[in-house]
Amino acid sequence: MKQFNYVIVGSGSAGLTFALKAAEHGSVAIITKRSKSDSNTAWAQGGIACVTSDEDSMELHIQDTLVAGDGLCNEEVVRTILKEGPACIAELVSYGMHFDKRINEHGKDELDLGREGGHSKRRILHARDRTGFEIEETLITAVLNHPNISLLENQMAVDLITTEKLGGHDQPIRCVGLYVFDEKKEYVETIQADVIVLATGGCGKVYLYTTNPDIATGDGIAMAWRAGAAIANMEFMQFHPTCLYHPKVKSFLISEAVRGEGALLLNSSGERFMELYDSRKELAPRDVVARAIDAEMKKRGDECVYLDISSKPQVFLKQRFPKIYETCFRSGIDMAKEPIPVVPAAHYQCGGIKTDLHGRTSLPGLYAIGETACTGLHGANRLASNSLLEALVMAHRADADIKKQDHRQDPITLPSWHSGDAQDVDEGVVIHHNWDEIRRLMWDYMGIVRTNKRLQRAATRLKNLEIEIQDFYWNFKISADLLELRNLVTTATLMVRSAMSRKESRGLHYTRDYPEHNSEFCRDTIIVKT
Ligand code: SIN
Repeated sequence: MKQFNYVIVGSGSAGLTFALKAAEHGSVAIITKRSKSDSNTAWAQGGIACVTSDEDSMELHIQDTLVAGDGLCNEEVVRTILKEGPACIAELVSYGMHFDKRINEHGKDELDLGREGGHSKRRILHARDRTGFEIEETLITAVLNHPNISLLENQMAVDLITTEKLGGHDQPIRCVGLYVFDEKKEYVETIQADVIVLATGGCGKVYLYTTNPDIATGDGIAMAWRAGAAIANMEFMQFHPTCLYHPKVKSFLISEAVRGEGALLLNSSGERFMELYDSRKELAPRDVVARAIDAEMKKRGDECVYLDISSKPQVFLKQRFPKIYETCFRSGIDMAKEPIPVVPAAHYQCGGIKTDLHGRTSLPGLYAIGETACTGLHGANRLASNSLLEALVMAHRADADIKKQDHRQDPITLPSWHSGDAQDVDEGVVIHHNWDEIRRLMWDYMGIVRTNKRLQRAATRLKNLEIEIQDFYWNFKISADLLELRNLVTTATLMVRSAMSRKESRGLHYTRDYPEHNSEFCRDTIIVKT
C-alpha cells in the first residue's frame, strides 16, 4: 500500500496547479490514466477569459457570466472566481506561460485579446489557437521539476475508499484512499491519502460526437457518486456549435474565436441564418447557436452547416489559428478560400460533483476541482473560456482550504483489491458494443433538443446496460476499457435522471415538452445515492 498526503486524480490544469501548491506542504501523487498531458486542458483552443483591458470591467464579465448561466449561477461564486482570476493567471505566467501580445496604435505591447460568444468585450487571453496545450506544457514542466510530486502515468483510479465502505470502524464517514489500476502491470494498487482531489475533467465521450479527447469518460463524477458524494446539474451538457464535420477527422474543434474574428455561419445554400434565431447572431451564447444550427440542419435535412472566414487574409488566419488552419488544410479545406463544414458536438459538462467555494465535496476528505466539479460558476450554461479560469482559481482555493485544516490521518491498513479474474473471450466486442450503444442513445435521446419520451427511452436502455456492465465488472478481470465503460454508463444515467427531473427549459437543457422557464425549477438539480 502506498501513502501520500495528497492524491490528485487527473493531470489537466486544475490537477497540476493544485499539485504545485500542495507540494509545498506535503507529499503529492498525481494519478493519470494515460500519458501526463492527455487531458481536456491540452485540447482547449480558445483561451482564458479574464479582465485585463481598460475598456473592460469586472462587472461586465460578471454580468456576461450571469446572463449565459440563465438564472442558475451562484452570484457569490461568480464574483469570487472572476475576481481571483487575474492573480492566478499572473502565477501561471510566473511558471513560464506566454499569452499572445500585439502592438497597439500607440506603438506599445499589449495582450492580444480574443472575443467569443456571450462576451460583451474582447477579453480572452490566448496563445494562438493552442492555449490549453501551452498551459499544459508549462504546468507539466513545473511539476516534473518538483521533488515532492510523483506523477504516475497509465494508472486509472477505480474507486474511492471511504470509512463507511471499510465497515466496522467507529469513525465519521470520510474518504481515506483509493484503488488504482496499473494498466501496464494489470494490477490494482491500494493508496492511502489524507486528502483526495478529483480533477478528472469532463464526460464528452458519453456522446457519439464530441470535441473532447478519448479520456473524457466522467470518471471522477462516477467515482464520487459511488462513494456517496452529492452530484449537481448533470442535465447541462454544453454542445459546442462548431466541430469540424469530416469523415476522417474525429473530434476536432473549430474555436469560437474564429467567430470572434468575424466568421459567419451559412446553410448549404450559402445563406446566413443566425439572424433568424437571435439578434446577437454568430456571437450569441453557445446554447443559442448550437440550437439554431440543429434547427437549421433538421429543417433542411442537411448533415452540417458552414463556417465562413474567407473574408480574412490567409496570412492572418495562418498566424492566429495555425492549428485549425493546418488541420483543415490537411483535410482538403483551405479556410482562407472556402467555408468549413461544421456540426455541434458535446463539449463541456457544466454540472458535476457538487462543491463549495473551497472545492470541498459533501464527502469529507474528498475535493473536486475543474470540469468534474460543479461550483455554481457556470449555472445552466457556461460562458466560453471561463472554465480554465475556474480550474486555476479553484486549485488555489482548495489548496488554501486544505492548508488551513488538519487533514492528517493516522495510518490505517486498507484492504487489498479483490476482483473476479475470469477472462472472457468476448470482452472486447461486448465493451465496444455497449460503449457504442451508450454514445448513440445519448446523442439521439439526450441531445440538444429533448422530450419526455426520448428521455424515458434513454433511461430504460441505460438501466439494462448498467445491469449488464455491472455483471461484467464483478465477474471478470478488469481492464481500463471496462472501467471507463462502467463510469460512462453511470455518468449517462445521472445525466438522464437529472434531465428528467427538470420540467422546464433553461440554458443548455431544452425540452419540447416544457419549452419555457418555470421559476419553480430555478434551482440546482442535486442527487445523492441512497
Ligand atoms: C473554443 O475555443 O471555442 C472553446 C473555448 C471554450 O470552450 O471555452
